[in-house]
Amino acid sequence: MIPRVTATIDLSALRNNLGVVRRLAPASRVMAAVKADAYGHGAVPVSRTLVAAGVDVLAVACLEEAMTLRQARVQAPIALLEGVISGEEAAQAVYEQLQIVVHDHWQIALLESLPASARLSLWFKLDTGMHRLGFPLADVPRLVETLQRHPGWDFQGWMTHLACADEPDNPFTGEQIGRFDAALRGIAGARSIANSAGLIAWPQARVDWVRPGLALYGCSPLPGVSAASLGLRPAMRLESRLIAVREYAAGEGVGYGLAYRCPERMRIGVVAVGYADGMHRAFRSGTPVMIRRRRAYLAGRVSMDMITVDLREVPDATVGDPVLLWGDGLPAERIAEWAGTLSYELLCGLTQRVHFRHLNGAD
Ligand SMILES: Cc1ncc(COP(=O)(O)O)c(C=O)c1O
Repeated sequence: MIPRVTATIDLSALRNNLGVVRRLAPASRVMAAVKADAYGHGAVPVSRTLVAAGVDVLAVACLEEAMTLRQARVQAPIALLEGVISGEEAAQAVYEQLQIVVHDHWQIALLESLPASARLSLWFKLDTGMHRLGFPLADVPRLVETLQRHPGWDFQGWMTHLACADEPDNPFTGEQIGRFDAALRGIAGARSIANSAGLIAWPQARVDWVRPGLALYGCSPLPGVSAASLGLRPAMRLESRLIAVREYAAGEGVGYGLAYRCPERMRIGVVAVGYADGMHRAFRSGTPVMIRRRRAYLAGRVSMDMITVDLREVPDATVGDPVLLWGDGLPAERIAEWAGTLSYELLCGLTQRVHFRHLNGAD
C-alpha cells in the first residue's frame, strides 16, 4: 500500500542543526525542546537522536509528554516547562526524576507537601516581561529563602522566556535580559534565557543554558533570514502524490466555491492531501508545492482530503508523481506565510493520518 501523505524525518538534520546551535553558543549547555511530539517530528526518535548527539536536557510541556519518553526508555534528564499542577503530578515527577520548572507559589506549596526525603529537581522561572509564566522579579529574595529552607532540593537554575526574540530590532529583548541579570545579580544558580531566536539573534542571551526548539528542526525563527543561511537543514519533508490530472478551459472554476478560475486553458492536478492531514484550510491560492523539482501552485480551496494545483509550470506532471508540500527546497517557514501562520503550527499540526518514517537514526 502506498501511503497517501508521508512525513519523512531526517534525523541527521537534527544532528547538523544541533551542531549549528553549539557553534553559536559553544559555552552553553543545551536543553532541547521536544514538546508537542518534538514539534510534530516524533518525540521518541528525535529525543533518542538528540541525546545520542549530546543534548544535556530534553524539555517537554507536561508530565504526560515526559511519560511518553520514559516509557520508551529515554533516561536522559527531562524538564517539565509548565511544571506540575497537582501533588500527584509532583510525586510522579520526582519518581521519574524529572526537572520541574516552577513558575508560581502554589507550585512551591505542592512541592513542600512532598516527603522531605523526596529528591526534587527544579528550576525557577522568572517573568521578565512576557507575562505568561513566571514569578515577578520582586519575588527573587523569597525564592532564594525557599531554596535555603530546602537544602535537599536539587536546584538547576533560573529561567526566563523572551517575548520578542524574533524581532532583532526590538529593544524589549535587551530589556528582558537586563532585568533578568539585575534581579539575579550576586545570586547563585545557572541561568537560561534563549529559545532559538534568542540564541541566534541575541548573543547576550547565550548564557549557561540555551533552549532551542525550532532551529533544531531546521527552520529559521527569524523572518527574512533563511534557514540555509544559518546552516540549518529542515528535518521534515512532507509529501503526497498527484492522483488526477485534468485540463480545463479558460474561465472554468475549480474546487469548493469554484474559488479558483482558470485564466487560460490549463492543466489542474489533484494532490491527495487536505486539512484532515494538516494542510491548513487557510492556505491561499498561489501557495507553492513542488513536482518534478518545479513549482506548482495551489489553485482554489483546500478540501478535507485533497488540494488542486496549477500545473502550468510542470507540463510533464502525471498521476503518481510525488508532490513536495514542505521540506528541503520549500522551507516550512516560507510556506506557512501563505496560511498566515508560522512553521511551528505547520510542523505540529500533522494528523494521525500522516505516515511517518524516520531516517538516519543513531542506532
Ligand atoms: C520556555 C520555552 N523555552 C524554549 C522554547 C523553544 O522555543 P523555540 O522553538 O522558539 O526555539 C519554548 C517553546 O515555545 C518554550 O516555551
